[in-house]
Amino acid sequence: MEQYFVLENGVQMPRIGYGTYKCTDGSDEKIVHMALEVGYRLLDTAAAYENEIYVGKAICESNIPREEIFLTSKVWKTELGYEKTKKSFEESLERLQTDYLDLFLLHWPKPAPDTENWKALDKESWKALEEFYHQGKVRAIGVSNFLPHHLEALLESADVRPMVNQLELHAGYMQEAAVQYCRAWGIQVQAWSPLGRRRVLEEPIVLEMAGKYEVSAAQFLLRYLLQQNIGVIPKASSMERMRQNLDISELEITEEDLYLLRCLPQIGWSGEHPDLARVAPQESVQKS
Ligand SMILES: NC(=O)c1ccc[n+]([C@@H]2O[C@H](COP(=O)([O-])OP(=O)(O)OC[C@H]3O[C@@H](n4cnc5c(N)ncnc54)[C@H](OP(=O)(O)O)[C@@H]3O)[C@@H](O)[C@H]2O)c1
Repeated sequence: MEQYFVLENGVQMPRIGYGTYKCTDGSDEKIVHMALEVGYRLLDTAAAYENEIYVGKAICESNIPREEIFLTSKVWKTELGYEKTKKSFEESLERLQTDYLDLFLLHWPKPAPDTENWKALDKESWKALEEFYHQGKVRAIGVSNFLPHHLEALLESADVRPMVNQLELHAGYMQEAAVQYCRAWGIQVQAWSPLGRRRVLEEPIVLEMAGKYEVSAAQFLLRYLLQQNIGVIPKASSMERMRQNLDISELEITEEDLYLLRCLPQIGWSGEHPDLARVAPQESVQKS
Protein backbone atom coordinates (compact mmCIF):
# COMPACT_ATOMS: atom_id res chain seq x y z
CA MET A 1 0.00 0.00 0.00
CA GLU A 2 1.30 3.47 -0.95
CA GLN A 3 2.12 5.82 1.91
CA TYR A 4 0.16 8.66 0.32
CA PHE A 5 -3.14 9.45 -1.32
CA VAL A 6 -2.90 11.65 -4.37
CA LEU A 7 -5.59 14.32 -4.15
CA GLU A 8 -7.48 15.59 -7.21
CA ASN A 9 -4.96 18.40 -7.72
CA GLY A 10 -1.94 16.06 -7.49
CA VAL A 11 -0.99 16.93 -3.89
CA GLN A 12 0.18 13.93 -1.87
CA MET A 13 -1.44 13.44 1.53
CA PRO A 14 -0.16 10.81 4.00
CA ARG A 15 -2.64 7.98 4.52
CA ILE A 16 -2.00 7.93 8.25
CA GLY A 17 -1.79 11.10 10.29
CA TYR A 18 -1.77 12.12 13.90
CA GLY A 19 -4.97 13.64 15.35
CA THR A 20 -4.21 16.34 17.90
CA TYR A 21 -7.63 16.87 19.48
CA LYS A 22 -7.05 16.98 23.24
CA CYS A 23 -3.51 15.64 22.81
CA THR A 24 -1.96 18.77 24.29
CA ASP A 25 -4.23 18.92 27.35
CA GLY A 26 -1.90 19.31 30.29
CA SER A 27 1.21 18.60 28.25
CA ASP A 28 1.72 21.56 25.89
CA GLU A 29 3.75 20.61 22.81
CA LYS A 30 5.38 17.48 24.29
CA ILE A 31 2.99 14.96 22.73
CA VAL A 32 3.25 16.56 19.29
CA HIS A 33 7.05 16.29 19.55
CA MET A 34 6.58 12.60 20.31
CA ALA A 35 4.32 12.07 17.30
CA LEU A 36 6.88 13.68 14.98
CA GLU A 37 9.67 11.64 16.55
CA VAL A 38 7.74 8.41 16.02
CA GLY A 39 7.36 9.31 12.35
CA TYR A 40 3.98 10.96 11.82
CA ARG A 41 4.17 13.52 9.02
CA LEU A 42 0.52 14.57 8.90
CA LEU A 43 -0.73 16.61 11.84
CA ASP A 44 -4.45 17.33 12.12
CA THR A 45 -5.44 20.36 14.18
CA ALA A 46 -8.19 23.00 14.17
CA ALA A 47 -8.84 26.46 15.55
CA ALA A 48 -11.42 24.87 17.86
CA TYR A 49 -8.84 22.54 19.47
CA GLU A 50 -7.06 25.58 20.93
CA ASN A 51 -3.72 23.84 20.48
CA GLU A 52 -2.42 25.29 17.20
CA ILE A 53 0.15 27.24 19.17
CA TYR A 54 1.64 24.01 20.55
CA VAL A 55 1.46 22.22 17.20
CA GLY A 56 3.29 25.15 15.58
CA LYS A 57 5.90 25.22 18.35
CA ALA A 58 6.58 21.50 18.06
CA ILE A 59 7.00 21.74 14.26
CA CYS A 60 9.40 24.68 14.58
CA GLU A 61 11.46 22.98 17.28
CA SER A 62 11.58 19.64 15.46
CA ASN A 63 14.09 20.70 12.78
CA ILE A 64 12.01 18.70 10.29
CA PRO A 65 11.75 20.79 7.10
CA ARG A 66 8.28 22.34 6.91
CA GLU A 67 7.68 20.85 3.45
CA GLU A 68 8.04 17.34 4.91
CA ILE A 69 5.06 17.91 7.19
CA PHE A 70 1.46 17.86 5.98
CA LEU A 71 -0.38 20.33 8.19
CA THR A 72 -4.17 20.47 8.37
CA SER A 73 -6.31 23.00 10.17
CA LYS A 74 -9.98 23.97 10.14
CA VAL A 75 -12.23 26.97 10.53
CA TRP A 76 -14.80 26.52 13.30
CA LYS A 77 -18.53 26.51 12.53
CA THR A 78 -19.23 29.80 14.28
CA GLU A 79 -16.73 31.53 11.99
CA LEU A 80 -18.44 30.70 8.69
CA GLY A 81 -18.80 33.62 6.22
CA TYR A 82 -16.24 35.30 3.97
CA GLU A 83 -14.61 37.82 6.33
CA LYS A 84 -14.72 35.61 9.43
CA THR A 85 -13.17 32.68 7.55
CA LYS A 86 -10.38 34.89 6.24
CA LYS A 87 -9.64 36.15 9.73
CA SER A 88 -9.72 32.66 11.20
CA PHE A 89 -7.33 31.35 8.54
CA GLU A 90 -4.81 34.16 9.13
CA GLU A 91 -4.98 33.58 12.89
CA SER A 92 -4.37 29.85 12.40
CA LEU A 93 -1.30 30.60 10.27
CA GLU A 94 0.03 32.89 12.94
CA ARG A 95 -0.50 30.45 15.79
CA LEU A 96 1.03 27.65 13.71
CA GLN A 97 4.04 29.87 12.85
CA THR A 98 3.79 29.08 9.17
CA ASP A 99 2.97 30.96 5.97
CA TYR A 100 0.97 28.16 4.36
CA LEU A 101 -1.17 25.14 5.22
CA ASP A 102 -1.29 21.85 3.37
CA LEU A 103 -5.00 21.46 3.94
CA PHE A 104 -7.65 23.81 5.27
CA LEU A 105 -11.18 22.57 5.99
CA LEU A 106 -14.60 23.95 6.82
CA HIS A 107 -15.03 22.09 10.13
CA TRP A 108 -18.85 21.72 9.99
CA PRO A 109 -21.38 22.80 7.34
CA LYS A 110 -23.64 24.72 9.76
CA PRO A 111 -23.14 26.83 12.89
CA ALA A 112 -26.12 24.94 14.39
CA PRO A 113 -28.58 22.33 13.09
CA ASP A 114 -31.32 24.96 12.77
CA THR A 115 -29.25 27.67 11.03
CA GLU A 116 -31.31 28.66 8.03
CA ASN A 117 -28.74 30.52 5.91
CA TRP A 118 -26.10 27.77 6.09
CA LYS A 119 -25.87 27.41 2.29
CA ALA A 120 -24.97 31.10 1.87
CA LEU A 121 -22.48 30.92 4.75
CA ASP A 122 -20.77 27.86 3.28
CA LYS A 123 -20.55 29.48 -0.14
CA GLU A 124 -18.99 32.65 1.31
CA SER A 125 -16.47 30.66 3.33
CA TRP A 126 -15.65 28.53 0.34
CA LYS A 127 -14.93 31.66 -1.72
CA ALA A 128 -12.37 32.62 0.92
CA LEU A 129 -10.80 29.14 0.79
CA GLU A 130 -10.62 29.31 -3.01
CA GLU A 131 -8.77 32.62 -2.70
CA PHE A 132 -6.22 31.15 -0.25
CA TYR A 133 -5.77 28.25 -2.65
CA HIS A 134 -5.21 30.47 -5.70
CA GLN A 135 -2.82 32.65 -3.67
CA GLY A 136 -0.75 29.57 -2.75
CA LYS A 137 -1.48 29.97 0.97
CA VAL A 138 -2.93 26.47 1.12
CA ARG A 139 -2.07 23.43 -1.02
CA ALA A 140 -5.49 21.77 -0.79
CA ILE A 141 -8.92 22.80 0.49
CA GLY A 142 -11.77 20.70 1.76
CA VAL A 143 -14.60 20.16 4.17
CA SER A 144 -15.46 18.12 7.22
CA ASN A 145 -18.75 16.59 8.33
CA PHE A 146 -20.35 17.48 4.98
CA LEU A 147 -23.06 15.03 3.93
CA PRO A 148 -24.13 14.73 0.27
CA HIS A 149 -26.76 17.49 0.50
CA HIS A 150 -24.24 19.90 2.04
CA LEU A 151 -21.72 19.10 -0.68
CA GLU A 152 -24.33 19.45 -3.40
CA ALA A 153 -25.15 22.98 -2.24
CA LEU A 154 -21.45 23.90 -2.15
CA LEU A 155 -20.73 22.41 -5.56
CA GLU A 156 -23.43 24.56 -7.18
CA SER A 157 -21.15 27.59 -7.11
CA ALA A 158 -17.67 26.20 -6.35
CA ASP A 159 -14.87 26.92 -8.85
CA VAL A 160 -12.54 24.56 -7.00
CA ARG A 161 -14.02 21.30 -5.76
CA PRO A 162 -13.27 20.17 -2.20
CA MET A 163 -10.34 17.75 -2.29
CA VAL A 164 -10.98 16.12 1.09
CA ASN A 165 -13.97 15.41 3.32
CA GLN A 166 -13.13 14.47 6.92
CA LEU A 167 -15.95 12.44 8.43
CA GLU A 168 -16.57 10.40 11.56
CA LEU A 169 -15.90 6.90 10.24
CA HIS A 170 -15.14 3.69 12.07
CA ALA A 171 -16.43 0.14 12.23
CA GLY A 172 -20.06 0.53 13.25
CA TYR A 173 -20.43 4.00 11.74
CA MET A 174 -19.48 3.98 8.09
CA GLN A 175 -21.70 6.71 6.58
CA GLU A 176 -21.79 4.78 3.30
CA ALA A 177 -23.94 7.37 1.42
CA ALA A 178 -21.51 10.18 2.20
CA VAL A 179 -18.46 8.05 1.34
CA GLN A 180 -19.97 6.96 -1.99
CA TYR A 181 -20.88 10.53 -2.87
CA CYS A 182 -17.34 11.73 -2.18
CA ARG A 183 -15.88 8.94 -4.30
CA ALA A 184 -18.14 9.87 -7.22
CA TRP A 185 -16.82 13.45 -7.05
CA GLY A 186 -13.15 12.57 -6.57
CA ILE A 187 -13.12 13.82 -2.96
CA GLN A 188 -10.67 11.94 -0.73
CA VAL A 189 -12.30 10.67 2.44
CA GLN A 190 -10.45 10.86 5.75
CA ALA A 191 -11.75 9.33 8.99
CA TRP A 192 -11.95 11.21 12.26
CA SER A 193 -12.28 9.10 15.42
CA PRO A 194 -11.13 6.04 13.44
CA LEU A 195 -11.08 4.14 16.76
CA GLY A 196 -14.47 5.53 17.73
CA ARG A 197 -12.58 7.43 20.45
CA ARG A 198 -12.11 4.01 22.14
CA ARG A 199 -15.81 3.15 22.04
CA VAL A 200 -15.25 0.45 19.41
CA LEU A 201 -12.00 -0.98 20.78
CA GLU A 202 -13.72 -3.38 23.20
CA GLU A 203 -16.36 -4.58 20.76
CA PRO A 204 -16.39 -8.41 20.87
CA ILE A 205 -16.39 -8.86 17.08
CA VAL A 206 -13.47 -6.42 16.73
CA LEU A 207 -11.49 -8.18 19.47
CA GLU A 208 -12.21 -11.56 17.89
CA MET A 209 -11.06 -10.45 14.45
CA ALA A 210 -8.00 -8.62 15.75
CA GLY A 211 -7.09 -11.84 17.58
CA LYS A 212 -7.46 -13.83 14.38
CA TYR A 213 -5.00 -11.52 12.60
CA GLU A 214 -2.75 -11.33 15.70
CA VAL A 215 -2.84 -7.55 15.89
CA SER A 216 -4.31 -5.12 18.40
CA ALA A 217 -7.92 -3.94 18.06
CA ALA A 218 -6.62 -0.45 17.19
CA GLN A 219 -4.38 -1.77 14.42
CA PHE A 220 -7.20 -3.85 13.03
CA LEU A 221 -9.66 -0.92 13.01
CA LEU A 222 -7.18 1.41 11.29
CA ARG A 223 -6.25 -1.10 8.63
CA TYR A 224 -9.94 -1.79 8.02
CA LEU A 225 -10.39 1.86 6.98
CA LEU A 226 -7.15 2.12 5.01
CA GLN A 227 -8.02 -0.92 2.94
CA GLN A 228 -11.13 0.96 1.84
CA ASN A 229 -8.96 3.91 0.77
CA ILE A 230 -10.03 5.99 3.72
CA GLY A 231 -7.33 8.05 5.46
CA VAL A 232 -6.97 7.84 9.26
CA ILE A 233 -5.82 10.32 11.90
CA PRO A 234 -5.80 8.45 15.24
CA LYS A 235 -4.90 10.28 18.42
CA ALA A 236 -2.75 8.47 21.01
CA SER A 237 -0.87 9.65 24.07
CA SER A 238 2.03 7.22 24.40
CA MET A 239 4.87 6.47 22.01
CA GLU A 240 3.99 2.81 22.16
CA ARG A 241 0.44 3.43 20.93
CA MET A 242 1.60 5.98 18.38
CA ARG A 243 4.04 3.41 16.96
CA GLN A 244 1.46 0.66 17.02
CA ASN A 245 -1.00 2.79 15.05
CA LEU A 246 1.61 3.47 12.35
CA ASP A 247 2.81 -0.13 12.17
CA ILE A 248 0.05 -1.73 10.10
CA SER A 249 1.50 -2.12 6.63
CA GLU A 250 1.94 -5.90 6.95
CA LEU A 251 -1.68 -6.54 7.85
CA GLU A 252 -4.05 -7.64 5.06
CA ILE A 253 -7.70 -8.14 5.95
CA THR A 254 -9.67 -10.46 3.68
CA GLU A 255 -12.50 -9.13 1.52
CA GLU A 256 -14.90 -11.37 3.43
CA ASP A 257 -13.94 -9.88 6.79
CA LEU A 258 -14.13 -6.34 5.37
CA TYR A 259 -17.70 -6.99 4.24
CA LEU A 260 -18.62 -8.49 7.58
CA LEU A 261 -17.43 -5.37 9.39
CA ARG A 262 -19.04 -3.00 6.92
CA CYS A 263 -22.39 -4.61 7.71
CA LEU A 264 -22.24 -4.27 11.50
CA PRO A 265 -25.15 -2.58 13.22
CA GLN A 266 -24.40 0.99 14.34
CA ILE A 267 -21.98 1.17 17.26
CA GLY A 268 -19.77 3.76 18.86
CA TRP A 269 -21.33 6.85 17.25
CA SER A 270 -20.09 10.11 18.81
CA GLY A 271 -23.60 11.55 18.86
CA GLU A 272 -22.52 14.42 16.58
CA HIS A 273 -24.37 15.16 13.35
CA PRO A 274 -24.48 18.37 11.33
CA ASP A 275 -28.29 18.41 11.04
CA LEU A 276 -29.28 17.06 14.46
CA ALA A 277 -28.97 18.19 18.05
CA ARG A 278 -26.09 16.46 19.77
CA VAL A 279 -26.90 13.31 21.71
CA ALA A 280 -24.83 11.35 24.21
CA PRO A 281 -22.12 9.18 22.59
CA GLN A 282 -23.30 5.70 21.82
CA GLU A 283 -21.53 3.17 23.99
CA SER A 284 -20.66 -0.15 22.42
CA VAL A 285 -23.56 -2.52 23.00
CA GLN A 286 -23.11 -5.48 20.68
CA LYS A 287 -22.24 -8.55 22.68
CA SER A 288 -21.61 -11.22 20.09
N1 LIG B 1 -13.40 16.97 11.89
C1 LIG B 1 -13.99 16.73 13.05
O1 LIG B 1 -15.13 17.16 13.29
C2 LIG B 1 -13.26 15.93 14.07
C3 LIG B 1 -13.94 15.51 15.23
C4 LIG B 1 -13.24 14.74 16.15
C5 LIG B 1 -11.91 14.43 15.93
N2 LIG B 1 -11.26 14.88 14.81
C6 LIG B 1 -9.83 14.56 14.56
O2 LIG B 1 -9.68 13.14 14.54
C7 LIG B 1 -8.65 12.78 15.46
C8 LIG B 1 -8.87 11.39 16.02
O3 LIG B 1 -10.14 11.26 16.62
P1 LIG B 1 -10.36 11.13 18.21
O4 LIG B 1 -9.21 11.72 18.91
O5 LIG B 1 -11.72 11.65 18.49
O6 LIG B 1 -10.48 9.57 18.46
P2 LIG B 1 -9.68 8.24 18.06
O7 LIG B 1 -8.40 8.57 17.37
O8 LIG B 1 -10.66 7.36 17.40
O9 LIG B 1 -9.40 7.62 19.48
C9 LIG B 1 -8.51 8.17 20.39
C10 LIG B 1 -8.57 7.33 21.65
O10 LIG B 1 -8.09 6.01 21.37
C11 LIG B 1 -7.04 5.69 22.26
N3 LIG B 1 -6.01 4.93 21.51
C12 LIG B 1 -5.25 5.37 20.48
N4 LIG B 1 -4.44 4.40 20.02
C13 LIG B 1 -4.68 3.32 20.78
C14 LIG B 1 -4.15 2.01 20.81
N5 LIG B 1 -3.22 1.62 19.93
N6 LIG B 1 -4.61 1.14 21.74
C15 LIG B 1 -5.57 1.53 22.61
N7 LIG B 1 -6.12 2.77 22.65
C16 LIG B 1 -5.68 3.65 21.73
C17 LIG B 1 -6.50 7.00 22.75
O11 LIG B 1 -6.00 6.84 24.06
P3 LIG B 1 -4.74 7.65 24.65
O12 LIG B 1 -4.84 9.06 24.13
O13 LIG B 1 -4.92 7.53 26.11
O14 LIG B 1 -3.50 6.96 24.15
C18 LIG B 1 -7.72 7.90 22.76
O15 LIG B 1 -8.46 7.75 23.96
C19 LIG B 1 -8.73 13.90 16.52
O16 LIG B 1 -7.58 13.93 17.34
C20 LIG B 1 -8.90 15.10 15.63
O17 LIG B 1 -7.66 15.49 15.08
C21 LIG B 1 -11.92 15.62 13.89
